[in-house]
Amino acid sequence: MTVPVTVPDPATAEKLLLEAERLNPGPWVAHSRHVALAARYIAERHPDLDPARAHTLGLLHDLGRRSGPNKDRHILGGYDYLTALGFTDAARIALTHSFAVPELDTLQGVWDGTPQEWTRLGDLLAGVRFDTEDRLLQLCDLLALPDGFCTVQERQIDVALRYSVNARSAAKWRAQLELKQQFDAECGVNIYCLLPGLCERLLA
Ligand SMILES: [Fe+2]
Repeated sequence: MTVPVTVPDPATAEKLLLEAERLNPGPWVAHSRHVALAARYIAERHPDLDPARAHTLGLLHDLGRRSGPNKDRHILGGYDYLTALGFTDAARIALTHSFAVPELDTLQGVWDGTPQEWTRLGDLLAGVRFDTEDRLLQLCDLLALPDGFCTVQERQIDVALRYSVNARSAAKWRAQLELKQQFDAECGVNIYCLLPGLCERLLA
């Protein structure tokens, strides 16, 4: 029996990201590379995670940005693109990475897709049960700016300045901070200290 390939091999993932960068160059690519590194470093200390898979999922979580400058519609675009390639686990991460709280109204900013796409995004999200990889990539998306690793709070401010905030932002931030605490407990370490340079910067 053939086991389905739900995540691309590292060379294919790199090719997909480079192709996306050619189509839509921007700081999102460097952000994705740091998310991938954060996911790898944390997975190396986590009892249930595969570091190589975690790295690939990080590289591809924002792949929906390949279609051009876009906002939250990249979530659906990445899901559809990776699903069409057969990489269903990478597609699921593209879908879930922004939803520490799995509710559409926690997205900050104006929806840049159609109303039908908004409904479809909600339906897809309702059908997913988050696993440890979903939670890992939700966290790692918060640990990386284009120029390096950051704290969850630093990233929350970065997103708020670009997308604004709404009535659900406090609930979302609480859930994001809980994710950090969960991974600290699961890894038995302050995960900031697994990211080169971050712990040192915080203690300086
Ligand atoms: Fe991201």
